[in-house]
Amino acid sequence: MQDVRLVIMAPMNPPPRLAPVLRADSPYRIRLGRPDDLAAVARLMARCFPGPLSIGTWWPALWTHSIQDDLLRRSRQPDLPHVWLIATCPQPGCPPQVVAATELSQRPAGWQRIPQAYAYLANLAVDPAHRRRGLAQALLAACEMETRQRRLTQIYLHVMASNRPAAALYERVGYRLHRPDPNLWDWMTGRATRLLLVKSLSASPMP
Ligand SMILES: CC(C)(COP(=O)(O)OP(=O)(O)OC[C@H]1O[C@@H](n2cnc3c(N)ncnc32)[C@H](O)[C@@H]1OP(=O)(O)O)[C@@H](O)C(=O)NCCC(=O)NCCS
Repeated sequence: MQDVRLVIMAPMNPPPRLAPVLRADSPYRIRLGRPDDLAAVARLMARCFPGPLSIGTWWPALWTHSIQDDLLRRSRQPDLPHVWLIATCPQPGCPPQVVAATELSQRPAGWQRIPQAYAYLANLAVDPAHRRRGLAQALLAACEMETRQRRLTQIYLHVMASNRPAAALYERVGYRLHRPDPNLWDWMTGRATRLLLVKSLSASPMP
């Protein structure tokens, strides 16, 4: 049986090469996620997206487990090749800690009524202790490099209209509203609307 963990983190063909997006003296490193990062990525996601419940001491473990399952499930969709980009921070005497991550997938023409093939970015998360240090911006720049290597020219993503930090980040790096994109769950729960944003990549890289 195929090891699905190898699929979720596997670089696509041809293997992408990430040019440096952080200053050489930064303690952080950005790289493609590997199969053995999966549990750390799930823990990071659970911290950054706390989920619908926060009851009992058992909830964080259950939520992390369900996120990890979800990552594995999506890895089994061979028609949606995707990679994880992660940022790590060194820790004395231990392996580097995963402190930020995002998922980038390739979507075919026609998906979400978008006429051409495009890159789709999801689950951008930075550990609270490492925010406002430019990590999200660096991951977004790395995603642009990946997208260019796949000869795609547009990156789409969803953001909740109420998520001001994320909206400010995306606006700052050049994402623009494509259309409001509410789903049934938003409507049923009265949550803020999801927005579909897009960035068209020009020949010049992100400032
Ligand atoms: C949104 C998030 C990814 C930002 O990560 P980050 O590493 O702190 O962002 P950066 O340091 O790269 O910020 C770059 C710019 O984005 C904007 N920004 C980021 N966080 C902001 C905040 N809390 N308030 C206002 N602007 C913010 C600023 O313009 C910032 O530049 P500055 O620090 O020079 O002012 C992080 O807060 C997070 O993980 N949030 C929880 C998960 C989430 O909502 N993800 C997005 C899903 S769509």
